[in-house]
Amino acid sequence: MGVLDGQTLARQIREQVGREVTRLREETNRTPGLTVLMVGDDPASGIYVRTKHKAAGKLGIRSDLLLLPANASQSRVLERLRQLNRDDGVDAVLVQIPLPNHLDTWAVLDEIDPCKDVDRFHPLNLGRVMTGRADLFPCTPAGVLRLLDHHGVELNGINAVVVGRSFIVGKPLAAMLTNRHATVTVCHTRTRDLAARVREADLVVAAAGKPGIISADMIRSGAVLVDVGTTYLDERSEVEKLCPPDQLTRFDRKGNAIAGDIHWTAWEKSSWYTPVPGGIGPMTVAMLMENTLELFRARGRRLQWPGMS
Ligand code: GUN
Repeated sequence: MGVLDGQTLARQIREQVGREVTRLREETNRTPGLTVLMVGDDPASGIYVRTKHKAAGKLGIRSDLLLLPANASQSRVLERLRQLNRDDGVDAVLVQIPLPNHLDTWAVLDEIDPCKDVDRFHPLNLGRVMTGRADLFPCTPAGVLRLLDHHGVELNGINAVVVGRSFIVGKPLAAMLTNRHATVTVCHTRTRDLAARVREADLVVAAAGKPGIISADMIRSGAVLVDVGTTYLDERSEVEKLCPPDQLTRFDRKGNAIAGDIHWTAWEKSSWYTPVPGGIGPMTVAMLMENTLELFRARGRRLQWPGMS
């Protein structure tokens, strides 16, 4: 079994983006700008948005973190997005999901200028992904495919099982795998016999957000395992049940650790697997950096900035 090391590949991609940001700044005197908007104070989302904001800053991307209170009204959020759409210094806008319940998530995502939609969650961009006409892809599915391609994992003709049907991961990834000629089964909470579906898989992508839901007995020997799950655990007993023994020492201050959806005991049955942490998480951030750079470039081409080809 080989490790699909997202940490290392993500670092290489971030470095490449950083070099390109520097080169373009010297050539055009402009810097890509990313704005990350979060509403409320969900602790896991807080960790993700700060990670994204910090990563951008390190690459020379101008990054703004906008934090709105949990009770911010729909009209306030929409007005803020309209301002960002008009702002010439902003190339890329990201609204962290989930939003508080009183907000209409689709109405919020619809408001982002599709040309600044770095997550590609606007229906126009998701539609392009579905029909195989996209130039950019949602960050997590893009990170999954980039990591598999980097290690030469064959997709053509394989049985792929995607567990989870969110618009953030499962649905776009299912379309992207289909466009790469995999036979794709999408499983979810109402799937009758999850184990039977997963046992048929050459590739399992788990994106359910339910730690350990995929157990070793469900895995066909030699399958490729991709784990998108990142659930923060704070009970030491949960960590002991769900995480490989080395996480107990790596995250020992309060017994906090991150658990994936695939139980670690399944790894030894696989041909390739992504660890948690250090698999898809860093790839998502790297793809966000790459998408930000690409939106900057695309805007430069549209507006015919000097020095931009
Ligand atoms: N919440 C979980 N994953 C994501 C993501 O990739 N983008 C955004 N905006 N929110 C998320």
